[in-house]
Amino acid sequence: MKGVVLAGGSGSRLRPLTSVTNKHLLPVFDQPMIYYPIQTLVNAGITDIMIVTGGNSAGDFLKLLGNGKAFGLKHLNYTYQEGEGGIAAALSLVEHFAGSDPICVVLGDNIIQGNIRAAADAYREQGGGAKILLKSVPDPQRFGVPELDGKRVVQIEEKPPSPKSEYAVIGIYMYDARVFEIIRTLKPSGRGELEITDVNNAYIERGEMTWDKLEGWWSDAGTFESLLHASNLVAETGANHQELKHAAEAGANG
Ligand code: G1P
Repeated sequence: MKGVVLAGGSGSRLRPLTSVTNKHLLPVFDQPMIYYPIQTLVNAGITDIMIVTGGNSAGDFLKLLGNGKAFGLKHLNYTYQEGEGGIAAALSLVEHFAGSDPICVVLGDNIIQGNIRAAADAYREQGGGAKILLKSVPDPQRFGVPELDGKRVVQIEEKPPSPKSEYAVIGIYMYDARVFEIIRTLKPSGRGELEITDVNNAYIERGEMTWDKLEGWWSDAGTFESLLHASNLVAETGANHQELKHAAEAGANG
């Protein structure tokens, strides 16, 4: 399975912090935000990784991450998103990289405490389709929210005013190569974006979506409140932070 980190977007909810740089280069406690999703993939045994970025600071990712030595990698792949168009539009740019392989997609502002290796292994055994990860949250209306019927996910609603469950669909998704065909069928949502929730609903309609609950804490970091929350969680309890400490000591460039 190949890995994808989506690190584009304007970061408009974090202005003025993002007026001159990319959101994913901002600090979460003592590491750049993008270190965490890369480490999430590496911890799951996924080492063939592409970073999708965009905007004015795109070159800074190369300077910061180089060939991924800080994560024990020999090589990192990069691609550039012109303009904006939503998460699914950014994902469409990795089609040539993915080829016929399944992919694990991590949103660049999603930080987790634990390890998704078990979910990745379960997805590999599933042999196609898609998998999402769910986390119980106090404020599901901020996220994609699943309607569940036992182990079956009935549908996902994006930022619903009246959520049908207490769960958020976190920003870690596993897809087979048909995801790119699905993205080509999407129409922009009310906020003018190709929504990852519409991709997930397409897999649900085909009866090819599974889900697992994420162990340990999870936070996005795309608003002032969640960025502070994520930094505090990392400072207090670690995240995949211990590995990152070692990464920092090894030096990022090279
Ligand atoms: C995006 C997705 C949403 C998901 C969230 C996780 O939201 O659209 O379904 O729950 O990431 O961080 P956005 O960051 O665009 O608000």
